[in-house]
Amino acid sequence: MKIGEVEGPHRKLVGRTIWHYDAVESTNDSMKELLGPDLPEGLVLWADRQSAGKGRHGRAWASPPGGLYLSILLRPKEPHAQIIGLLAGMPVVKALRHFGVFAGVKWPNDAVFQNRKIAGILSEGVYRGDAYHVIVGIGVNTNVDVERLPPDVQAKATSLKREVRLFVANEEFLDYLLDQFDDLYSRYRNTPINLMLKEYRGACTTVGKRVTVGTPKGKVTGRAVDISLQGALVVADDEGTKHEIVDGTVEHIK
Ligand code: BTN
Repeated sequence: MKIGEVEGPHRKLVGRTIWHYDAVESTNDSMKELLGPDLPEGLVLWADRQSAGKGRHGRAWASPPGGLYLSILLRPKEPHAQIIGLLAGMPVVKALRHFGVFAGVKWPNDAVFQNRKIAGILSEGVYRGDAYHVIVGIGVNTNVDVERLPPDVQAKATSLKREVRLFVANEEFLDYLLDQFDDLYSRYRNTPINLMLKEYRGACTTVGKRVTVGTPKGKVTGRAVDISLQGALVVADDEGTKHEIVDGTVEHIK
């Protein structure tokens, strides 16, 4: 149920209007249901909890109360769902750092602190007729007790509540996050994509690390050496062969 509407008139596009719900199945799916030409670009759906939160690769995203769950509607000129998904990791990490967690972006877009995931992003490209939309879903473990997450994710997850003594309200976190996202999207619209990817490459803590990447074609182990112009992770294996990985699950090896 919708429980409120928040305006952010100081923003250029993203987060000028926020619809606040108490519970939905998935904010990404709610956005898809509402999609139409009249739905304003930059609209944010924010829920206090989700009963069927979705993660990447068809996984579930545990969404207990206390966490921050939102989706942003974008209509980029190019079908850039994947690249925007990568770039979205930057404002998320900026917000986490602002509130005291020195997280980094693990390729493609996980926010990670001390090898534990604190936020995830699911960016989906959706056509309705000829109109292309991108729905960027962001889940942040803000005021989540890690013990309330499924047992298999507990050891690999953390939350703002666990890492920072000071209480940070979700409204406050969302406000800062949307300011950062609005800035990023405006830069994306006005900057050649290779420069945006260069910025992402600088923020991505995977580049330079030894990694194992699970891909649909099998595992690749080697050093992450670059981000391609398509946003793929370039991994040089131990024979020196380079692999461009478009989709996969990365493990940083110490
Ligand atoms: C991942 O790391 O696997 C991506 C997680 C994305 C979770 C968010 S929560 C808000 C939005 N709605 C969803 O159903 N998923 C995204």
